[in-house]
Amino acid sequence: MEYGYLGKSGLYASRISIGGVQLGSEDLSQRQVDRIIAAMFDVGINLIDTAYIYGNGQSEVRIGKALGAKRNDVILVTKGGHYKAQYDPPSVGAPSRRYLVREVETCLKRLNTDYIDVYMWHMGNSVPPHEMLRAMDDLVKSGKVLYIGGSNTPAWKLGVASEYARNHGMNPVVLEQSGYSMLNRSRELDTIPCCLEYGISFMPYRALQSGFLSGRYKQGEPVPEDTAVGRYNKPTLDRMSTDENWEILAQLTQVAGDLGIPLPELALAWLLHQSAVDTVLVGASRPEQVIENAKAANVKLSPDVLARLDEILRRND
Ligand SMILES: NC(=O)c1ccc[n+]([C@@H]2O[C@H](COP(=O)([O-])OP(=O)(O)OC[C@H]3O[C@@H](n4cnc5c(N)ncnc54)[C@H](OP(=O)(O)O)[C@@H]3O)[C@@H](O)[C@H]2O)c1
Repeated sequence: MEYGYLGKSGLYASRISIGGVQLGSEDLSQRQVDRIIAAMFDVGINLIDTAYIYGNGQSEVRIGKALGAKRNDVILVTKGGHYKAQYDPPSVGAPSRRYLVREVETCLKRLNTDYIDVYMWHMGNSVPPHEMLRAMDDLVKSGKVLYIGGSNTPAWKLGVASEYARNHGMNPVVLEQSGYSMLNRSRELDTIPCCLEYGISFMPYRALQSGFLSGRYKQGEPVPEDTAVGRYNKPTLDRMSTDENWEILAQLTQVAGDLGIPLPELALAWLLHQSAVDTVLVGASRPEQVIENAKAANVKLSPDVLARLDEILRRND
């Protein structure tokens, strides 16, 4: 496994990190989660991402149990302030000071820890950036949180919060998480330039488009039942299932074949070659997937291959 600093922070993270949505799923038992976390340690992954809403909190609970005495060996990322906040009617939930401060207590209990490495506001919505930043800065000062992160933060808000932190000597945002993959490059236009300006590390999620970029789905064929998409996320596949995307997938499969690597490895490695990306977040429902995905950290793509990929992906801009 290769490691690197996240943006301008002192956090030293594995180039591949692991997502927590699957770990809170009803389809997995604690034993299966334990095995996935064990595989994660085996391959040297040291960053786990979760959120208080994944599996209604079960993701945090299971990760806390699976880590046990090894908690200090990982960078734990979790989030608060999503619109599904449980305290008030859902429509008023947002990363306000009120939610961020209350939810951190729940996260700490569920994760069975006394500090969170990176605490993210989850979605920017309607709360002023100064309020989000100040609340987070206070949580860092309290010792409950070590670093500040954002999830799906609108780029303008990320910029304003970062400028505010810079001008007021506050703890800055060090990590921003948003959807980014070979088939979804919109963040290259706004969030990523903002991250580069402020030294924030950009962490892509849905790096495999929830499995579409795994190459397991075939155009016109039924979705396999043993996949998350097959079980309950078919709309994701329906959205991706355009003639253009299938054509791109065929060409990407060809490139992966020429390089002698599986398609998911190519998709993850490509992200690691993009600006501001220091670690790529990928979900796994089996230990074998963790082991395979970790290999992407060591894949070096030549300028020629990157140009060939850019040519294929340009039509998707
Ligand atoms: N901040 C946010 O709003 C937000 C939103 C979404 C996700 N996230 C985070 O990002 C993480 C990843 O997102 P995601 O799970 O939606 O998308 P993803 O990482 O693109 O897809 C993960 C899925 O791809 C399949 N997969 C993974 N490795 C594979 C391999 N080597 N070969 C074949 N298939 C493979 C698995 O599907 P099967 O399970 O079907 O085998 C796995 O569940 C989440 O766990 C979460 O931590 C954050």
